Amino acid sequence: MDMIIKNGTLVDDKSQYLSDILIREGRIEQIAPAISASDWPTAQVVDAAGLLVMPGGIDVHTHFNINVGIAQSVDDFFTGTRSAACGGTTCVVDHMGFGPRGCNLHHQLGVYKAHARDRAVIDYSFHGVVQHINDDILAEMQAMVREEGISSFKLYLTYGYKLDDDAVFKAVSRLAEVGALTTVHPENDAAIVNIRHTLEAEGKITPRYLGVSRPLECEAEAIARMINLAKLAGNAPLYIVHLSNGLGLDYIRLARRAGQPVWAETCPQYLLLDDSCYEQEDALKYTLSPPLRPRAEQGKLWQGLMDGSIDTLATDHCAFTYGEQKQAGRDDFKACPNGLPGVETRMPLMFSEGVAKGRISASRFVELTSTLPAKLFGLYPQKGCLAVGADADLVLFDPSCERAVHHSELNDNTDYSPFENIPVTGWPVMTICRGRIVAEQGQFTGEAGYGRFIYRQPFKAPAQPALS
Ligand code: URP
Ligand code: ZN
Ligand code: ZN
Repeated sequence: MDMIIKNGTLVDDKSQYLSDILIREGRIEQIAPAISASDWPTAQVVDAAGLLVMPGGIDVHTHFNINVGIAQSVDDFFTGTRSAACGGTTCVVDHMGFGPRGCNLHHQLGVYKAHARDRAVIDYSFHGVVQHINDDILAEMQAMVREEGISSFKLYLTYGYKLDDDAVFKAVSRLAEVGALTTVHPENDAAIVNIRHTLEAEGKITPRYLGVSRPLECEAEAIARMINLAKLAGNAPLYIVHLSNGLGLDYIRLARRAGQPVWAETCPQYLLLDDSCYEQEDALKYTLSPPLRPRAEQGKLWQGLMDGSIDTLATDHCAFTYGEQKQAGRDDFKACPNGLPGVETRMPLMFSEGVAKGRISASRFVELTSTLPAKLFGLYPQKGCLAVGADADLVLFDPSCERAVHHSELNDNTDYSPFENIPVTGWPVMTICRGRIVAEQGQFTGEAGYGRFIYRQPFKAPAQPALS
C-alpha cells in the first residue's frame, strides 16, 4: 500500500527539516514540504507531527540462530528480527557462526540463508566467516563477493577457529583484492589462555573473574596487530568489531591520522555498563567477550563517537536465557555461553544517552546507527538514507517519550535485558520496512518471511572525518 508520512521532522546524517514523504511500492517516491493526500487517494496517511522520521536502524552485528558449541542462542531470525523491528531497526547484517571443520565459505551461507528465508521480518544479509585459510578458500572469496553479494568477512583471533598471523595476512590481502571489508574480533588468545590458567590455579573461575580474565590489553594488542598487518597487506581496509576500550581506540586513531582505512564499531553495553556488574549476584547476565570494562573506558568511547573516530553503533546481539542457559557458568565462567541481547534497545538507548544527553546530534545518531553501517557494508544508497529511490526503511521516533527499559515489554526470546530499569528519553513508535509497517508502539505488526536477503555491493571506502 502507498503511504504518506506527513508533518514529520526528517533527520538524515547531514541535517533535519520539516517535510512529508510519499512511499510507493516499497520505495521513497517523493520528499516534499506538503504532499497532498487528495493526490494519492489510496495512500495510507500517517501523521508524524512531533516525531523524528529517520532512516531505519541498520544493526551490522547480530548473531541469530547461532550455536556456540555449548549452547544454541534463543533468538532465531524470526524472534531476533521481530525484536529488531520493534526497536526501530529495519535491516541486520548477521555474523554467521562457524560451520563444520574444513567447510568452505559457501557452506555457512547456504545454512544461514535457510535459517533466515521464511523467518526474517526485516531485510538482512550476512558477514562471511573465515575459519581457515588455504588456496581454495582464497579463490572462493571472489565469488562470495561478486556472485553472492557477501562483501565483508569476519576473522577471529581467539575462540576455536582463531587465525594465526600467516592466515590473517593472506585473508586480509585477498579480501582487499576482491572488494571485501575484513572485520575482526580482536583479542590476544595466548594472553587470555595464560591469564585463565593462572586464575584457575588460584581457584578464581566464577563469573566475578570474567573481566580480569580478558583484560583490555588483550583486545588492544590484537587491534594494534591487525592494524599493522592490514597496513603491511597493502593498506587493506579493516573494521574493528565491538570495541570496548580506550587503548584500542588510541591505536585506531593513530592509524586513521596516518590515513589508514580502519573503521570501528562499539556497542551500547560498553557505553552503559561496566565491570562492576561482575560483582553483582546476577553477574551471569553480563558474560560476553570482550567483557565489560572499568567505568573510565566509557567516557573514552563516547569521545570516539563524538570526534568521529568510532563509526558505527551495533549490538553484538547474542541471546541466551539467564534462568537456564547462563546458569551453566555459575561455578565456572568458561561453561557459560557468552553474549548479550540488545537488538531492540540499541536505538532508544543510544538516542537517549547520545542525543537526549547532548553528546551527539540527531544527525550523528543517524550516521552511527544507519548511514555509515550502510556505506561500509555495501547497502548504501539503497538503505541508510532518506532519498528518492531508496528503500522506504524508516523509523518514526518520539524524541520526548520518557520510559525505562523493561524486558517484559521487549520482543526477543530471552528472559532478561542487561539494561533493565535504565531510564530512556526517546523511543521508536513506528518501524517501516520497504513501505510496510512492521512494528507500531512496541507491538510487532509484520510477518515471518517478509524480510529479503540483500545482495551487498563490493566495499567502497566512505570518507573519514579529519581527526585533530
Ligand atoms: O560474547 C560475545 N560477544 N559473543 C558473540 C560472539 C562474538 O564474539 O562476537
Ligand atoms: Zn566477536
Ligand atoms: Zn559478535
